[in-house]
Amino acid sequence: MGAALIPSPVFVFSLLCMMMCSLWLFPAVASAGITRHYKFNIRLQNVTRLCHTKTILTVNGKFPGPRIVAREGDRVVIKVVNHVPNNVSIHWHGIRQLQSGWADGPAYITQCPIQTGQTYLYNLTIIGQRGTLFWHAHVSWLRATLYGPIIIFPKHNVPYPFAKPYEEVPIIFGEWWNADTEAVINQALQTGGGPNVSDAYTINGLPGPLYNCSANETFNLKVKSGKTYLLRLINAALNDELFFTISNHSLTVVEADAVYVKSFQTNTLVIAPGQTTNVLLKTNPNTINSSFLMAARPYFTGIGTFDNSTVAGILQYGNRNPSFSNFSISTPPLPILPPINSTSSVANFTSQFRSLANSQFPTNVPQTVQKRFFFTVGLGTNPCPQNQTCQGPNGTKFAASINNVSFSLPTTSLLQAYFFKKSNWLYTTDFPNSPIFPFNYTGMPPNNTMVAGGTKVVVLPFNATVEVVMQDTSILGAESHPLHLHGYNFYVVGQGFGNFDANKDPAKFNLVDPVERNTVGVPSGGWVAIRFRADNPGVWFMHCHFEVHLSWGLKMAWIVLDGNLPNQKLPPPPADLPAC
Ligand code: C2O
Repeated sequence: MGAALIPSPVFVFSLLCMMMCSLWLFPAVASAGITRHYKFNIRLQNVTRLCHTKTILTVNGKFPGPRIVAREGDRVVIKVVNHVPNNVSIHWHGIRQLQSGWADGPAYITQCPIQTGQTYLYNLTIIGQRGTLFWHAHVSWLRATLYGPIIIFPKHNVPYPFAKPYEEVPIIFGEWWNADTEAVINQALQTGGGPNVSDAYTINGLPGPLYNCSANETFNLKVKSGKTYLLRLINAALNDELFFTISNHSLTVVEADAVYVKSFQTNTLVIAPGQTTNVLLKTNPNTINSSFLMAARPYFTGIGTFDNSTVAGILQYGNRNPSFSNFSISTPPLPILPPINSTSSVANFTSQFRSLANSQFPTNVPQTVQKRFFFTVGLGTNPCPQNQTCQGPNGTKFAASINNVSFSLPTTSLLQAYFFKKSNWLYTTDFPNSPIFPFNYTGMPPNNTMVAGGTKVVVLPFNATVEVVMQDTSILGAESHPLHLHGYNFYVVGQGFGNFDANKDPAKFNLVDPVERNTVGVPSGGWVAIRFRADNPGVWFMHCHFEVHLSWGLKMAWIVLDGNLPNQKLPPPPADLPAC
């Protein structure tokens, strides 16, 4: 597999470029970008992995899907045409969507999904972001096969804040299922038990030589000695955080979630579903004609089952093709990864992320807070319906919640209901700011683990400064939860283990150079605190990026009201917004 990043044909340079310093000092008046057009035909396609052929949903027949390539400041217009039986919507994960909430994509939050035979034009502009993001389907578990990279270059003639890499390579992690993932989740929701797990992890769609019948499906990164490569890592797996490493090489982290960070070196990194991380890989100056393995496997502390397997790929110096079809003696040694449940490795790694916080890339973390929230996140149960036996804990059904509210999706989109003021029957605005029944969140779990239901939202005034402390619970096992917020980046101002202490912990918050992201792991048995300014009007989904927890209800939505100025209002929806 050749893997160099080749600019797509639509990749046209903007010729009008202003002086670089003016871009830095006055971003508001910086040169406008160009418009790039993409067409996404959602099609069925036969794909074979692990000697198992199945029909999957793809974009343009590709798995993983095609890359979106743009520059900061560009407008990107993607025409999505649905040629499959399923209803589909696509989310541009991490794109800020300033005043373009209608193009965000989560089904039943900002739009109804695109029905068979229908088309929707996603129209978005990339403002103040550069780095790696990704797109994925946002309805049921369709993102299992519908995903691909978003690559955002800096504006024309604006350099990276690190040495220009020799080559750039997207590395997108996924999961492969021999079974039909829609059947997997539908059955799990029916029985109340945990869903079946995937059969393999993949790198750029390839499981690699550690799986049966898979050696020919191995990601192979060909490199030259003594060069610097920019690896754009994306975790598009459904349900698993992953450790990743490359034998005999160290990596330099330079960006997370399309925001530059203060660079730091690491041998192993951890990446949660929904997160992206750019790293520099320096190849050894004197190595020729040899190969090393890269590998990824899960980090997991819960009590359920998970896919405990390892994806490997090859880092190949020189042109001699390695043959690992009999994965054996000739195979380079497997790199060492932390133990599966190594929460300390995760904490050590994540604590190293810092914003650049310089004049070119200032940190705008709110120093004061107007709206404060304390959210418990974790698992729970729903009662088993009469005349049924359930396979969840003690004969119940698995559920998940925020502040004990297990969120149910409405039947038409929240954004439409809000915009057209038809809220009364679709949602309520009483999402709790903090748990109604406080308990020892990380201690002995309470006897009653039942959750409440509802489609409840929080309403925020425009421009409010917001702090959310997210606290993991030990109900049915302490576990890390990658929480993703749509429409915003937030600052991660603090994290810790045990129960958050509102009297002591805020004193330790980093309000100087906290990392800015769109997805953060709530530590297993711990808490994380984030801050953001509610300056993007619309309806914004927030949820655990583990698809299984999302299905069980670990989600909620924020309604951010319009401001008074014209550029602080959400415009009306486009005419082709899908109908339910
Ligand atoms: Cu990447 Cu709402 O998700």
